[in-house]
Formats: sequence, C-alpha cells, structure tokens
Amino acid sequence: MTCLLALDQGTSSSRSILFHADGRILAQAQREFRQIYPQPGWVEHDPREIWSSLRATLDEVLARGVAAPQAIRAIGITNQRETTLLWRRDTGEPLHNAIVWQDRRTEPLCARLRAEGAEALVQRKTGLRIDPYFSGTKLQWLLDTIPGARAQAEAGELAFGTVDSWLVWQLTQGRVHATDVSNAARTLMFDIHAGQWDEELLALLRIPRALLPEVRPSSAHFGDATLRLPDGGTLTLPIGGIAGDQQAALFGQACFRPGLAKNTYGTGCFMLMHSGSQAPRSDNGLITTAAAQPGPAAEYAVEGSVFIGGAVVQWLRDGLRAIDASHEVQRLAESVPDAGGVIMVPAFTGLGAPYWDAEARGAIVGLTRGSTVAHIARAALDSIAFQSAALLEAMNRDAQAHGAAPVTELRVDGGACVNDLLMQTQADLLGIPVVRPKVIETTALGAAYLAGLSCGVYAGLDELQAQWQVDRRFIPTLSRAQARARMDEWAHAVRQATAR
Ligand code: G3P
Repeated sequence: MTCLLALDQGTSSSRSILFHADGRILAQAQREFRQIYPQPGWVEHDPREIWSSLRATLDEVLARGVAAPQAIRAIGITNQRETTLLWRRDTGEPLHNAIVWQDRRTEPLCARLRAEGAEALVQRKTGLRIDPYFSGTKLQWLLDTIPGARAQAEAGELAFGTVDSWLVWQLTQGRVHATDVSNAARTLMFDIHAGQWDEELLALLRIPRALLPEVRPSSAHFGDATLRLPDGGTLTLPIGGIAGDQQAALFGQACFRPGLAKNTYGTGCFMLMHSGSQAPRSDNGLITTAAAQPGPAAEYAVEGSVFIGGAVVQWLRDGLRAIDASHEVQRLAESVPDAGGVIMVPAFTGLGAPYWDAEARGAIVGLTRGSTVAHIARAALDSIAFQSAALLEAMNRDAQAHGAAPVTELRVDGGACVNDLLMQTQADLLGIPVVRPKVIETTALGAAYLAGLSCGVYAGLDELQAQWQVDRRFIPTLSRAQARARMDEWAHAVRQATAR
C-alpha cells in the first residue's frame, strides 16, 4: 500500500487526512480551534493553537494504525491563505496572534495606498487588488504596531509567513523557512509574472526583505518532518507539496488545463478557473493568481471570492433560529416550490468579488404577507448560487474580452456541495452542467497529489486526471431567458444592499 498524508489547516479547523495513492480516504481527524475577535472587524488566531490543533489531528490519524508508517511516502500541506504570522527566528516565538484573512483592520492603510495611486502597480505585478484581505498590509500593521518589531525585522531576527510557512517551520523544527508560489501570490509582495518577491512592492509596503521565506514550486521537497509515532518511535517524512487551499482544490479537481473551473462551497465560496501559462488581467472584478505549480513553469488562475456562502446557513441557524442544524436547511427550503419572490443578499461583511463593496450590508427583498421562514431559507440557498453565478458571468465576460472560450462545466466541492437543491439551482442559473466528483475533499487531495508527484508516487498529471471521477452531474432545467430574468432580479436586490 502507498499512502500520502495531507495536512489541511483551514480557517475554522485543522485536519489531517491519510489518502491511499488511488485517492481513497483511509483515515481522517479534525479539530476546531479558537477564533479571536479583539474588536469589530478584527479576526485573529493563536499561532500555537494553529499548530497544536493540527498536530493533535496528525497524532490521531497515525494512532489509528490503518497503514504501516513505511507506507506513507510524503506530506502535503494546504492552508487558509493570506493569514499573516510573524515569529522570532531564534526561539520560534510568535510576536503576535496571526491576523486572519477576514480581518479588516488595515482598510485605512489600503485606502491610503489607493489614494497614492498604487492600485495599477499592484494589480499589474500581483494580479490582486489593494484590499485588507491580502497579507501585505497586515504585515505592515504588525511591524508598525509591535514595539521594536521593525528594527528586529531589519536585523534579520524575525520571520514572516503565511500558515504554510509556519507549519513547515514547526514540522522541521525551525530548519526550513519556505513557502510555495500559490501562497506567495496572496501577499501583495510577489510578482506573479517574474515568480519572485518584488523590491518595488516591498518598498511600497515598507517590508524588510530579510523577513521573507524562500519561494518554491508547489510540488517540491520542502524539508523533512519528524513525526511522533504512537509506539514512541519517530517517523521522518518529506514535505513534498504545498498549496493554498483554493489552488489545492483546483488541483485536486484535476483542473489542469485553461478553461477548467471549480467552485468550493465552504464558509465562503471560491471559484477558480485555470488559465494555463497566461495570467489574464480581469476587467470584471476578479483577481489573477498563481495556480498550484507542479513543475518548473508558472501556471495561473482567475479567481472570484464570495465572503458569505455556507455561512448564510449558519446565520439561519444561529441568528434567525429557523433551523436547529445546518443539514435541515434543504428540507425546509424544499418545502416550498421556490422562494416566492424573496431574494436575500447576505452582504453581512460587505460584498467580495465581483462587487468589492466593503460598505454593503445584508438585505432581504420581495417580502409579502405570504412569505414564510421556508421562503427565506430557500432565498438563503439561492443567494449562494446567485453570488457564484455572478462570478461565472464575470469570468465569461473576461474570457470573451480576451478571445478565450467560456467555461463549459463547473466542478464543485466543499461541504455545501452535498446539497442537491443548491447544486441544481446553481446549474439552472449558470446554464452549464455542475459536476460533483466522488471525492469532495479535493483541497486535501490536491495537497496529497502535489506531494505524491514530487516523491515519484505518480508519473504525471494524466494519472491524476484518470483518478477524478464523477458522482453526479446537475443539468440545467431553466431556459437561458428564465435564468437571465432571475439574475436580473438578483442584480436589483444587490443594488438595494449596496445603496448606502
Ligand atoms: O482566501 C481564504 C481562503 O483560503 C480560506 O479558506 O476554507 O479556510 O475558509 P477556508
């Protein structure tokens, strides 16, 4: 038996999954960890808890004993992206809590950079927008806020990292300070065309170069991890792959060619379309990013991020108390034939792509005397599909402008993709098939694949392509005119949410 160990460090939980090389899950463990909200709009994680929660899942998976330790060939890491950490190189002590990707504290810094006219430079080099979402201004905030940090950074005493770098540092006991291109591409400091940290961007953000990790392709040898075995022994494994979670999911979905796209339905929704060796600029509110890079050549993707996806179901449960458990939403939503004209825009934290409106707030429109909680539940599910459809529309507008073909099917994954009603609604709005694979843990699978490639478990991408299998295809049932009318209703509701 040949196995690969995927470590998936996400925003709300840490997970370890042991995969058979054929893609089957053999064992998995998951631990939630603390979300820290020091002020409205601020979100932090304790770096030690990020590591201890992950290590606990790793120990748990190894303790299950489903595979002999020698059968495990390599570790693949995938992670919540953009979340920013700073630690001392000599002791490994973090200087501050990690500032999480959702944190909005650096909006004033971003506004200043935009006012200084830096947006064009940043977009040209990084493919991103100047937004608190990305790491660069979070790191700037840490250096400007922690007494002495800037001087220590300039003296080479500190290390910056996204979560992947922090985990590699822990797993190698501080021997390796590295990241991969798909994570580096989310920092605002990395030129995705040149494939390196960029001096002009570092100067703009006032970031000392000595802080930065070495950048490697996503499938590469990142060092050797020493793991504790349940019998008291140790196991040394190569870390063979790293990718940010959304790029790892694109890889795990076998989207290796231009035009292949996936949407992950988690707390938010992240739609990525592979664009091959081209890094097309979006004129429709999307960003361009490095895809997971299995070989020496750079690969790119176009991305749209929806901030509130499955989280709207949590709000139905915790805010509205319309359901007791998240899985009840499908039954409640299906108890009515449609949303009865109700449209919900869950702009609880503003709207992400393609609208990018930080001031937008949630709205429910079209209520009548006959509206019930079931209509609202249906509208909540619809809102996930509407937001994702708006991303695909933007991708297709970009593709048309660049003379590229539109997306012809959407591969789906993430927790909420098990909801058949949501997937059918999605296909209806998109007008293309929505395809759910048999393995929906594609984020962890992508990391395992990247590790398997670098240590010779797989000969190449064709082998991975052959392992990707369809569970169900959802075929559109609405006419394009009907779908257009629905998208127009959505656009009208978005205007209500953004008109402040
Ligand atoms: O860009 C943020 C994204 O990487 C977070 O993903 O799945 O941890 O919420 P997730």
